[in-house]
Amino acid sequence: MTGAARALATYLDQRRRMGDPGIVPEGFGPGELVELLATRRAPAGARGDGASPDSIASLSGDPVAGEAGYEELRRMALGCTRCRLAEGRTQVVFADGNPKGRLMVVGEAPGAREDRTGLPFVGPAGKLLDLLLAAVGLSRRDSVYICNVVKCRPPRNRNPRADEIEACAGFLRGQIRLVAPSVLLGVGTFAAQWLTGQSRPIGKLRGTVYRYEGVPLVVTYHPAALLRNPGWNRLCWDDLQLLCELIDRS
Ligand code: URA
Repeated sequence: MTGAARALATYLDQRRRMGDPGIVPEGFGPGELVELLATRRAPAGARGDGASPDSIASLSGDPVAGEAGYEELRRMALGCTRCRLAEGRTQVVFADGNPKGRLMVVGEAPGAREDRTGLPFVGPAGKLLDLLLAAVGLSRRDSVYICNVVKCRPPRNRNPRADEIEACAGFLRGQIRLVAPSVLLGVGTFAAQWLTGQSRPIGKLRGTVYRYEGVPLVVTYHPAALLRNPGWNRLCWDDLQLLCELIDRS
């Protein structure tokens, strides 16, 4: 069993002891689930096509991203003052993971730890996200690129506002076009609504395959919401299975 699998088994066991069997399918113990997952074919990791993100399609017409390559887009984001969130941030949180990864995960906005470290999803929700990805054979080191709809922390972790999302949208559009993932996963309402272009709540949006500019897209609950509502774990698990099918097919 790998370190990630052991961590997952421990986590599942802890949740079960706390009375939450939600994420473990009926009839399985956490260890059995991990064994089952280990025998499931993990989706291939990095695309390995050798294409530099800088060489991929231009972003003409986008007022933020313009013709920028990946590094230039990142530099533009790091110096961005397009909205009020620039005033309160410690760091811009651009992305983490592999820019050649087949899966791109899009979250909402950085929290306090992310603002401090400059990396997305490094708090408790991020740990759960890593475990969920590990459960389906994916990791941010090898196969996943992670970013947020909004790159700067909103004060006191309030919801990002429409004008802040709009100000940041060119960066996300640029990231998607330059990373060119095979599959997209939006976690939480803000990412799900931005990526699908729909305004329904996440509970109504999840469970379906969408496309963002031709890229297959699944949306699910935000891991922070899963920590507060363990009853949604099962639904998230179903969404991850959908995601795996798309990755296997891509
Ligand atoms: N929640 C998010 O949506 N993104 C992060 O980076 C951290 C927490």
